[in-house]
Amino acid sequence: MEALQNIRERRSIRQYKDIPVTAEQITQIVEAARFAPTWKNSQTVRYHAVLDKALKDRIAAEGTLNFSKNGSNIRSAAALVVLTTVDGIAGYEPDGSPTTTKGAHWQSFDAGIACQTFCLAAHDLGLGTLIMGIFDEPKIRELLRIPDGESISALIAVGYADTAPNAPKRKETSELLQIIE
Ligand SMILES: Cc1cc2nc3c(=O)[nH]c(=O)nc-3n(C[C@H](O)[C@H](O)[C@H](O)COP(=O)(O)O)c2cc1C
Repeated sequence: MEALQNIRERRSIRQYKDIPVTAEQITQIVEAARFAPTWKNSQTVRYHAVLDKALKDRIAAEGTLNFSKNGSNIRSAAALVVLTTVDGIAGYEPDGSPTTTKGAHWQSFDAGIACQTFCLAAHDLGLGTLIMGIFDEPKIRELLRIPDGESISALIAVGYADTAPNAPKRKETSELLQIIE
């Protein structure tokens, strides 16, 4: 698939077919996502992939802050990837001091790039995804035993799409772009 077509066609998928996603498929996606750029190539993004249905259902029931739509999204998907980042590296000097005035901003920045790279790679391989920002971090940390020193940046549902939603309306390019010549 052409890159520009992939970027335009990727959609957030909230209904999935009842078809499993394998560890090999998730590995193939992360093989691509690991080439996402990161702060000083620090590569602090981690992927915790839940294929186990019982654990995924517990996350859906207990880890979505009662935002029931995300509970349904997670239940519907074959897999849930919990994207984390190692704290205190992206944006910081080895002595722990912030390199810029933006502090931990760069940690989130790296997570976002990696997250989109993951979703585009999945789309290229025929899999749908949904990024979710509404989740109960302490509960999911506990359920997945996320190591201290890693923060959860986002959840990503993964599976075979059972819908083909239209793109939500985008602003015109002219509203977004200032060209200074
Ligand atoms: C940081 C972030 C958090 C999001 N959180 C949620 C969420 O919790 N639940 C949900 O259903 N969609 C969530 N979305 C998906 C957006 O609603 C979606 O990307 C947007 O409506 C554009 O649709 P598209 O992805 O199909 O282009 C999130 C997207 C991003 C980038």
